Amino acid sequence: MPASAFIRIGLAIALLGAGTAVLKSAEPPSGPQPPVALRCEYLENPMGIDMPHPRFFWILEHSERGQRQTAYQVLVSTNPDAGSGDMWDSGKVSSPQSTQVAYAGKPLANGRTYFWKVKYWDKDGLESAWSKVASFDTGLFERRDWKAQWIRSRNLLRKEFELPGKIARARVYLSGLGYSELYLNGHKIGAAVLDPAWTTYDKRVLYVTHDVTRFLRQGPNAAAVMLGHGWYKSRALLLQLRVELEDGRAVEVLSDGSWKTADGPVLSASVYNGETYDARLEESGWALPGFDDGGWAKAEEFAGPAGVLSAQLMPPIRVMDTIVPLAMTNPRPGVYIFDMGQNFAGWARLRVRGPRGPAVKLRFAELLYDDGTLNVENLRGARAEDIYILKGEGEEVWEPRFTYHGFRYLELTGFPGVPTADTIRGRVVRTAVPQVGSFACSKPILNRLQRNIVWGQSSNLHSIPTDCCQRDERMGWMGDAQGTAEEAIYNFDMAAFYTNFLRDIRDVQDDKGTITDTVPHFWGSRPADPAWGTAYPLIAWYMYRYYGDRRVLEEHYDGIRKYVEFLRSKAEGGLLKYSYYGDWVAVEKCPGAIVSSFYYYYDVKVMADMARVLGKTGDAAACDKLAAEIKTAFHKEYFNPKTGDYADGTQTANTLALFLDLAPEEARGRAWGRLFDDIVYKHDSHLTTGIIGTKYLMELLTRSGTSDLAYDIATKTDYPSWGYMIENGATTLWELWQKREGPSMNSHNHPMFGSVGSWLYKALGGIALSEEAAGFEKILVHPQMVRDLNYAAASTRTVRGDLACSWHRTDKSVRVEVVIPVGSEAEVLIPKFNLLDVAIAESGTPIWKGDAYLPGRPGIGEVKKIQGGYTITVGSGRYVFELSGN
Ligand code: BGC
Repeated sequence: MPASAFIRIGLAIALLGAGTAVLKSAEPPSGPQPPVALRCEYLENPMGIDMPHPRFFWILEHSERGQRQTAYQVLVSTNPDAGSGDMWDSGKVSSPQSTQVAYAGKPLANGRTYFWKVKYWDKDGLESAWSKVASFDTGLFERRDWKAQWIRSRNLLRKEFELPGKIARARVYLSGLGYSELYLNGHKIGAAVLDPAWTTYDKRVLYVTHDVTRFLRQGPNAAAVMLGHGWYKSRALLLQLRVELEDGRAVEVLSDGSWKTADGPVLSASVYNGETYDARLEESGWALPGFDDGGWAKAEEFAGPAGVLSAQLMPPIRVMDTIVPLAMTNPRPGVYIFDMGQNFAGWARLRVRGPRGPAVKLRFAELLYDDGTLNVENLRGARAEDIYILKGEGEEVWEPRFTYHGFRYLELTGFPGVPTADTIRGRVVRTAVPQVGSFACSKPILNRLQRNIVWGQSSNLHSIPTDCCQRDERMGWMGDAQGTAEEAIYNFDMAAFYTNFLRDIRDVQDDKGTITDTVPHFWGSRPADPAWGTAYPLIAWYMYRYYGDRRVLEEHYDGIRKYVEFLRSKAEGGLLKYSYYGDWVAVEKCPGAIVSSFYYYYDVKVMADMARVLGKTGDAAACDKLAAEIKTAFHKEYFNPKTGDYADGTQTANTLALFLDLAPEEARGRAWGRLFDDIVYKHDSHLTTGIIGTKYLMELLTRSGTSDLAYDIATKTDYPSWGYMIENGATTLWELWQKREGPSMNSHNHPMFGSVGSWLYKALGGIALSEEAAGFEKILVHPQMVRDLNYAAASTRTVRGDLACSWHRTDKSVRVEVVIPVGSEAEVLIPKFNLLDVAIAESGTPIWKGDAYLPGRPGIGEVKKIQGGYTITVGSGRYVFELSGN
């Protein structure tokens, strides 16, 4: 009986026997279910696709375990039910591929909407129904498709136009630099703020595409734009609106010298310093048709930024949440302090009533002095101050547009009357990448750590990965970016974000292959410190490893190769020694040269792996050879045969030697012993590492079978540790292990030490990639059940679907529940501790008893006894394993 019949019967029973009948719930449908979560270029129904062969992704669902796709069919059509496949009918393609399937139909046209759907065949050849229909909109492929002119302007721009018929379809393409807000007939278009993303404007300028059909009407219309500087040196707009009328005619509205411009109410706005807004200068109706703009100036056409126009194909920055303040205090007359209870990036929404003219000032900070007043010392040059001048017309609600702040506390002065808790709301602002991961366990300090990591990471996703969100930086510091990338990937869907960031990196590369410490390049040096520059190869490689994205490798292979060649040109005696920051903000800092040499080796190795993926065997062999030379030189240079240490024997130095097996077999034992002694005996299980060592130390300890020690480190609460920050009130991670609150470098919202986040997921949560395949096709579920930890749960949404593990143990049993995406395979490791007479059941059915595997449970490949436990190979589906013994 088909599923729908079950539902109908269930409904009929429900209706007939209302109040008396026992309801039978509909049985879940069986077999391959229609694919879900359809994405094009990692986005749901993206707007502005500007590549000829966009890729499709779908997630499979199946009622059975151990299932996979053996074939698929994609239809791409111009009609909304996607049924015709008039653009592309892939036919039945025998392939397990459900990600990165590149469009291969007729050439896509500019500015069109295409609809697509997909079905698949499972391992038994059963066919699913068609998925729901998804769509994608193409942008403008070539520069010549832009007929609009760049115009320079003051804050405001407007243009009226007539539409001589009913509107069938309308799309607007615009780039308003630095940041822009578009209004059509008074409606703000889209929910993005601080849009478009910051890029190296003379290399690449992003434009956004909106469906604006419902905001236009027959007759007079008005387009209006507000512009702020952002990171661009002035204000400029390029806008092209294309309206298709029902009668088949089309009207285009283009930015040009006929647009009108005026100053408007934003008196000043800067990312660091804040925004001053004089509401008395608002001109009502300026965004509507019929407004008298006779007093406005003409906008000036100009050549515009030199960069290539490219579609913004990642989620924009948005207001993601609203925070109610925890408390309001009044430390001095007229000075009110709001505590938001959380450090975050964004701004405040002000609600005020008063006469015309008073200036309400909002200042933002991470810290307070003991007397309860605002401490802005660590913001350095950033003024972080918003001013709102009242127009005096009843309740006024305002939030800034062209700035943002990193803060927990807010100071309000100049307020007419006495504010209340409702005067202020925190507005959380960040790039709207979906949060896809979760981690929780039985140790409260680690749950706090996870929370701080997520808040810190999300505060620093502002179209690029920033170092901090409060002081005068907010830069794409590449060391911070590479260190946190894996953590970010577990917690957020970073695929589209990093696709863009890798292009940002490519945009700063020069002919010699050098890249820069910050991207876009603003602060820091060229060439980048090798531990910073490594973000180029490493993030590209993570894109491949985590998302299976081969196209990213193809796109950046030449750039990465040029970068690695540059490093090679700087190498001395096989080692790379130049360094500016090295193991940044370490407690005990190792020589920078060993850090640079480590990354030289890492980059060359990654490059070899990329070459293998892309079938460039010659390059792979050359890189393997170079890597072997570096390895030899590294050991020779840094190993101290007397002590067994590498370099100065700091934790980072020994960690770097061990993490990638730079230490040859015969030296590993000693170096490992030295590292262990240093941590356990010399530092009472504390780390002394900076951002580089920290990233690798925790994983190295787990890989070496000492997760207990990693856990000890992770759960410390005295200096230096994550717990120390938390015990001192941190709600995001600090830049420094030390507690400092003066006018120096001590941001309280720096994501970089959050690199430990990926260890939480991989080690404690037990969800990790296998070395054997990319994109979570092969998974290792090896949860580390350490010390007093008796419960942990982790999940993340992979490109293939949800992956989760949660485990619980008691004196006599270990329970592990896993969810594996359709098409993936996992090896689940269940430790047995000291239990004897072990039996294992899956969802209540025995699968191991009396030292033998009892086959027969669906989805389970094999069960093997190994030292200390059991490994179980499983296909897709949900499993509940229970190991018990005496
Ligand atoms: C930033 C860091 C960055 C560093 C370079 C700092 O000012 O905030 O996070 O990586 O400079 O060493």
